[in-house]
Amino acid sequence: MDFTVLTIFPEMFAPLRESILKRAGEAGHISVRLVNFREYAVSKHKNVDDVPFGGGSGMVLKPEPIYAAVRDLPPAEGRRKILLMTPQGKLFNQEMGKKLARADELVILCGHYEGYDERIRSLADEEISIGDYVLTGGELAAMVIIDAVSRHLPGVLGKADSSVDDSLTEGLLEYPQYTRPPDFEGMRVPDILLSGHHANIQRWRRKEAIRRTFLRRPDLSLTAKFCSADYELLEE
Ligand code: ADE
Repeated sequence: MDFTVLTIFPEMFAPLRESILKRAGEAGHISVRLVNFREYAVSKHKNVDDVPFGGGSGMVLKPEPIYAAVRDLPPAEGRRKILLMTPQGKLFNQEMGKKLARADELVILCGHYEGYDERIRSLADEEISIGDYVLTGGELAAMVIIDAVSRHLPGVLGKADSSVDDSLTEGLLEYPQYTRPPDFEGMRVPDILLSGHHANIQRWRRKEAIRRTFLRRPDLSLTAKFCSADYELLEE
């Protein structure tokens, strides 16, 4: 997957050069190209923002530099999607991350200041918000998208921790996890996990995932995917 990020703060993307995403880049599973669209500003002072028509506080991103930067992208080699980071966008979730991972290239537009000139919106295939709060810019949101999408690409996670088992993959929170020691300061690992009985462990985990989702995120339990075996499990 090729990510191209249009931003006026390319230095903010340093965290992507760490850990799993660093390895994914080195292995060629992902590439991240940063384009500073300030370089496309035509004014003497390279302004990318201006005061809003009609008055009001704050500055608004001008259309010309972002349009010029998008028009200057190399021709798409596969399925390219252009995403606009904005608190007004569709609320991002695991399912959207999985769907976006089917593209070959994601172009991510990051705003700053109080907002975008409305005409910038027509460049985007999708507008995405990462939560109901306003960030100082789209850069952190873009990094969230890059991270959450990359996890679904083949080879990015080892086989052992593939995204198939992710919390939320089936719309449920993940079951409780434990590692050694079996008894830590009196807090014991549930016996069933030490039993070695694989089928019972699977059933216990499913039940705990459902229980946890109902208790912590009742909103998710309305859209989670249940099967008939789940109903039997819950009646046990
Ligand atoms: N830019 C500012 N706030 C944002 C948010 N919540 N999601 C995506 N982009 C943003």
